[in-house]
Amino acid sequence: MKNLYRLLDLTKIIINEIIDYGASYFRVKKFKVDIVENLALKNANKNNPQAILDTIDYYAWNEAFLMNIGDEKGLLLEKAIREKNPANCLELGVYLGYSSIRILRNLHENSKLTSIEASNKYFEISQKIVSHSGLSNRWKPMKGKSKDVIPSLKEKYDFVFLDHWKDEYLSDLKTIQRQGLLNDKAVIFADNVVLFNMEDYLSYVRNSSTFESKFISTMREYSKTQPDGIEISIFNKDD
Ligand SMILES: C[S@@+](CC[C@H](N)C(=O)[O-])C[C@H]1O[C@@H](n2cnc3c(N)ncnc32)[C@H](O)[C@@H]1O
Repeated sequence: MKNLYRLLDLTKIIINEIIDYGASYFRVKKFKVDIVENLALKNANKNNPQAILDTIDYYAWNEAFLMNIGDEKGLLLEKAIREKNPANCLELGVYLGYSSIRILRNLHENSKLTSIEASNKYFEISQKIVSHSGLSNRWKPMKGKSKDVIPSLKEKYDFVFLDHWKDEYLSDLKTIQRQGLLNDKAVIFADNVVLFNMEDYLSYVRNSSTFESKFISTMREYSKTQPDGIEISIFNKDD
């Protein structure tokens, strides 16, 4: 029964996204992401990351669903960044740049974040929003699909945030590992592992001696009732 409710809720989100896209495509109304971009740039003062996050959160709680990590899980992401204090981070799935801002504002002076986004539209919006936040000097946004961009990466990472399409988490993590892009004890922070029932991914990180993995139960972004969770896995290079 629980699974049925989860499926119905997920279906509702997907149908709403399709309706929103269709309505905007046929110019019946504006794309919600264009509205959010406008609000973030107008309502929040320049160089005020918190005001941008608040504007986006307010819209997502009160107007329409947005697929950012959200305020509850966003704080867990920030805590994980502060605990790891990474020199080099990688993010798969940028959307409006919301999580990029949450990561960037917790990085120390010499740390940096590379973020990969496949959609041209979201890529452009995120550039404007992150730039408005004043945090773009340590940010390297890359446009393209993760499977096409990851092979070009040469640096090693201490923190990887997985938040793109869910059926790509596992194959991308395996590619990242195969390419030797993870430093010892790198943290892999994966969002939405309950919402999307990510058994394959979870079984991989939980059953391999290469990772020590822990689960944190949460609610889905911008929901007080729908269960979700994040999986935080630590990479052990020598295993
Ligand atoms: C859930 S949203 C990311 C939300 C963002 N991390 C945040 O919390 O603010 C997922 C994003 O991943 C992008 N995406 C999906 N598959 C991708 C892929 N294979 N490579 C790069 N980006 C991808 C989508 O276009 C979308 O913008």
